[in-house]
Amino acid sequence: MAMVCLSDFEAHAKKYLPKIAWDFFAAGADDCSTRDENILAYKRIHFRPRMLRDVSRMDIRTKLLGTEISFPVGIAPTGFHQLAWPDGEKSTARAAKVMNTCYIASTYSTCTLEEISAAAPGGLRWFQLYIHRNRVVSQQLVQRAEALGFQGLVLTADLPYTGKRHDDIRNGFCLPPHMKLKNLEGAFEVCKMSLLDPSVTWNDIYWLRSLTHLPIIIKGILTKEDAELAVRHGVQGIIVSNHGGRQLDGGPATIDALVEVVEAVQGRVEVYLDGGIRKGSDVLKALALGAKCVFIGRPALWGLAYK
Ligand code: FNR
Repeated sequence: MAMVCLSDFEAHAKKYLPKIAWDFFAAGADDCSTRDENILAYKRIHFRPRMLRDVSRMDIRTKLLGTEISFPVGIAPTGFHQLAWPDGEKSTARAAKVMNTCYIASTYSTCTLEEISAAAPGGLRWFQLYIHRNRVVSQQLVQRAEALGFQGLVLTADLPYTGKRHDDIRNGFCLPPHMKLKNLEGAFEVCKMSLLDPSVTWNDIYWLRSLTHLPIIIKGILTKEDAELAVRHGVQGIIVSNHGGRQLDGGPATIDALVEVVEAVQGRVEVYLDGGIRKGSDVLKALALGAKCVFIGRPALWGLAYK
């Protein structure tokens, strides 16, 4: 059957992935209302279409912090790609390079940063960081990513603790024994406590700044207040995101939060968005409301599950 739209890939993934993997990818926090709102909110936004404009030539290239990509859709960081396809993040990196777009590799990748880099040399990649209690672990990750040619550091701000995802709890979700959080191997021995540091604050941006020359992009901003703080703390980019509705349930759809962030930032840094992007018209709505580029999370996983 022809695969026509992302829902077709979603249906395929649901049919063929093991239930535990599908549930993990699909999960939202609590009632999943924010997850679902991310999608519904686009349907409430309507175009004011204008006619008789010369559209015989279209150019959808854009730039992310100065680097050109062929269209304004990148790959958001998601963990555990080997749950969808044996080559995991290596395949994602190859696909992103072929499409000439940006792939944000997660701290929780099942391939090492070195493997990801080697799989698609020269591709545009940013590294997504969760700050760990053991700061040496985080510092080493950042420095490894920079040395490997990753071109941006994405700090995820919305996961001090993991959201309550009912199906994962019911399924007793954990990685199968043959898969590893490869970038953190060894770190678990160093740090026996829960790994993530819930005490992270805005001041830690200065700490990150002291570690790397990479531009810092903060992911998980949903309000004008935090957008202003992000700019004042010297980040180069903001990703308006609610983690695909997997963290705080009851917050806004990202497309609804975008406008106040864009207004607060006033062009001082680049603003991107993820959450619920499923169609070209969703991308257009986000761009029309001020995003420079959008990122997709789950759809890339469905793509992996489809080979
Ligand atoms: C995520 N997301 C995420 N974000 C992050 O910063 N680090 C991570 O490791 C992960 N892991 C992760 C796993 C899975 C299975 C999902 C679905 C999501 C959030 C992700 O970057 C992004 O914000 C959302 O996925 C965007 O929403 P859509 O496109 O999935 O609707």
